[in-house]
Amino acid sequence: MDNIISWSAEDEAIIGTNTDATECKRSAVELGYWKDDYISYFVKHVDRKAPEINRGYYARVRGMEMFIHQFIERCGTKCQIINLGCGYDTLYWRLKETTQAVGNFIELDFPAVTSKKCHIIKRNKQLLEKICNEDGEVVIREGDLHSDGYHLAGCDLRCLGEVRRKLAAAGAGEGPAAPPTLLLAECVLVYLRPDAADALLRRLAAQFPRCALLVYEQCNLGDKFGEVMVRNLSARGCALAGGGGGSPAEQAARLRGLGFEAARCWDMTAVWRALPDDDRLRVEALEMLDERELLHQLHSHYALAVATRSAVFADMDLNA
Ligand SMILES: C[S@@+](CC[C@H](N)C(=O)[O-])C[C@H]1O[C@@H](n2cnc3c(N)ncnc32)[C@H](O)[C@@H]1O
Repeated sequence: MDNIISWSAEDEAIIGTNTDATECKRSAVELGYWKDDYISYFVKHVDRKAPEINRGYYARVRGMEMFIHQFIERCGTKCQIINLGCGYDTLYWRLKETTQAVGNFIELDFPAVTSKKCHIIKRNKQLLEKICNEDGEVVIREGDLHSDGYHLAGCDLRCLGEVRRKLAAAGAGEGPAAPPTLLLAECVLVYLRPDAADALLRRLAAQFPRCALLVYEQCNLGDKFGEVMVRNLSARGCALAGGGGGSPAEQAARLRGLGFEAARCWDMTAVWRALPDDDRLRVEALEMLDERELLHQLHSHYALAVATRSAVFADMDLNA
């Protein structure tokens, strides 16, 4: 039987974090940190964010991309990506412009988010044309959008039965028949209670024997700076309920305990240092950064983890 979770005011606040993430990404894109021709469809106007926020988002997006490319390099494009708590992420469209567009791309979030994303896609030809199959067919069923190779479905990630149904409807497959699968959890799991996040990851690790998981979220929340981060979010009605928030080593150990054979985790200072020199230099020249210490604090309170099942992905690494 599915676990029933009641809707709360906190869920509303958690949904609001998608607006924040999209606005921050657009701010950085407008300043030239990275190229994204699609984000402006999802958020219309943003005030310029502080340089350390823009740089933090750059490290987040580039760090995720680095591992996404490694995954696709190892298994080819006959694979799938499942974007958990996708928000208004534009990765699907950005990959479509490259040789790395994958066979199946599935996005899950609360129905309140996916229905708005669906509406925005339908209204904008530039988004819609990239999800149409050869017949141009896009099916909207029960508020979810399905096309040949792109699926956007509303569900609560705490309800495993619902997640399972939505993944089945999106053709995700199961067991050895499932294609190599990349699971993305960018700033999502931390909003789920630890038992719910663990149950979700355990279930997904069991369903996809050839998978890798990328998790980006807060870490080291036990120190003074971490406490302030937690207080700020909670003042907006948004508690960090997740089991994350520990040190990178603790986060990796947690993932290994959930059915992944290998897991590694780095704080964003390490990820930043691992970016190619010319990338870092280009970005550092975009804006003056007065608050170096603040950027350092931010980088040391966010982490990127990669957990894998299958030897094919075992060598995915920061410096691979
Ligand atoms: C901070 S946003 C991140 C969005 C996107 N991953 C990104 O990085 O741009 C967190 C997202 O997780 C989603 N989320 C959090 N808890 C969820 C749950 N229980 N079920 C479905 N989605 C959830 C929110 O609705 C929101 O879109």
